[in-house]
Amino acid sequence: MSHLVAPSLLSANFLNLEKDIEMLNRSEADWIHLDIMDGVFVPNISFGFPVINLLKEKTSKPLDVHLMIVQPEKFVSEIAAAGAYMMNVHYEACTHLHRVVGEIKKHGMKAAVTLNPHTPVWLLEDILADLDMVLLMSVNPGFGGQKFIEHSVEKVAALKEMILRKNTQTLIEVDGGVNLDTGKRLVDAGADVLVAGNFVFASDDPVDTIRQLKQL
Ligand code: DX5
Ligand code: ZN
Repeated sequence: MSHLVAPSLLSANFLNLEKDIEMLNRSEADWIHLDIMDGVFVPNISFGFPVINLLKEKTSKPLDVHLMIVQPEKFVSEIAAAGAYMMNVHYEACTHLHRVVGEIKKHGMKAAVTLNPHTPVWLLEDILADLDMVLLMSVNPGFGGQKFIEHSVEKVAALKEMILRKNTQTLIEVDGGVNLDTGKRLVDAGADVLVAGNFVFASDDPVDTIRQLKQL
């Protein structure tokens, strides 16, 4: 499988979101990545259900929902009702991670677990087989446009090794500071899905930037 690209709407123009969604619809973007922040798990607040619920009417691209919130288990049915394809919950936010992953799947969504930069991939040994995807944060979550943490490339390689050893079908997604340089190195290390916010939306030609990310 060639890798997927999931532009993050966090860097879009919120005063004219429809225009940016239309741009993504025209582009080669595989998924749309939605960053939900609560001001508690991360030091920022983004957007919530009033926005998420409108998106499925405006796009047929799968919605990849990244919850940077405490107690994400409270919102499984609402996220499913919003039409999410993938629900990402943080390892650091879930005491009963196995139960949350089961609930996500029971609601018909794909289940992903996200790791902060300081959380080692080996902590997922006993749940990897239950996961459709692992999202590795390559910046500290909370803001777009931050500098890529280099150690993330090694984490992708270590996770890929674990996936091959355990013979699971788990995808590896990476989020934060992705551009053509970091993106290429991540794909070479085993990444299956690249999230990119600022690099796409701050570029002069976002459709072409997405095409270039696809071609890495
Ligand atoms: C950060 C978010 C990211 C963010 C990535 O907390 O999870 O999805 O939008 O933005 P860039 O690509 O600008 O680093
Ligand atoms: Zn994200």
